[in-house]
Amino acid sequence: MRDLLSIRETDTDQIHQVLQTAVGFNEILKRPVKKVPTLRGRSVITLFYESSTRTRTSFELAAKYMSADAVNIAVAQSSVSKGESLKDTLKTLEALTADCIVIRHPSSGAAHLAAQFTSVPVINAGDGRHEHPTQALLDALTIWQHKVVGAEDDTYPVALRPDKPFDLAHLTVAIVGDLAHSRVARSNAWCLSRLGATVRWAGPRTLLPAEAHQLPVTVCDDLESALTGADVVMVLRLQTERQESGLLPSLREYSRLWGVTHTSLRWAKPDVLVMHPGPMNRGVEISAEVADGVGGVRSTVEQQVTNGVAVRMACLYLLMGGSGE
Ligand code: NCD
Repeated sequence: MRDLLSIRETDTDQIHQVLQTAVGFNEILKRPVKKVPTLRGRSVITLFYESSTRTRTSFELAAKYMSADAVNIAVAQSSVSKGESLKDTLKTLEALTADCIVIRHPSSGAAHLAAQFTSVPVINAGDGRHEHPTQALLDALTIWQHKVVGAEDDTYPVALRPDKPFDLAHLTVAIVGDLAHSRVARSNAWCLSRLGATVRWAGPRTLLPAEAHQLPVTVCDDLESALTGADVVMVLRLQTERQESGLLPSLREYSRLWGVTHTSLRWAKPDVLVMHPGPMNRGVEISAEVADGVGGVRSTVEQQVTNGVAVRMACLYLLMGGSGE
């Protein structure tokens, strides 16, 4: 792998390799001193044209925990605001001797374009409504920990066990919400189906992309059919920043029909895992009680964030050819 641009272009062996590597890094995150010399003397630049809390910070921490130098470009204060093109920005970062560039951009396809402009490895940290590959990988790791290894929240990270392969063939994952605008939903459709899971997509018709039927997913018309017998429910944020007006009659109606609550979770398996990539709109797509794991709900929201650091360490390590020390 030279770049990590999409899961659609990542094969099952490569997905296994990232997950396997991330399991090892997860162990490092449990240590009192979370630092290894693996990427000493290398540099990672994060270039975010969209806001981010988890993704940008976890890439930065991932780089730092492996002793790389991490630099963030605050796009609003950079020469981008003077009209500098994506090509010139990438060429500049390469000339500044970056060893890896992590990019988030509002346009679908921007990460692929960026990779054409530079020979430095590029990681897509979310491009428009297209893909968010590291999010899908951290979600797959979280599902594996709970549903294959059986780790409870307080015992993760778990060591890789040869008798616990990254095989999700027995699982049904329902991805619910604003599918049209979600790069998380697309990357997860590819990633989880490559690992064998059955993936269901469910959301209002106006928030279902036209190409859904070309993806490895089963489209469900209502929340009940999506959740019935599901092992995992992945809740998506209503991405109003990408929506045109008129897609939803009202937020109240949306949360009544599509909100994941204790009541709707009764359709799913009793040990259903509730996931959300964050940021959450509490009371809209997910109730506060479900988000917080009240009443025995297995919410993995925070565990996903921690796994994000391990997965991003793995991606940086594999793309930058870290030393095995
Ligand atoms: C997601 C994103 O930016 O695509 N967030 C994230 O990276 N954790 C999902 C979202 O913004 O709703």
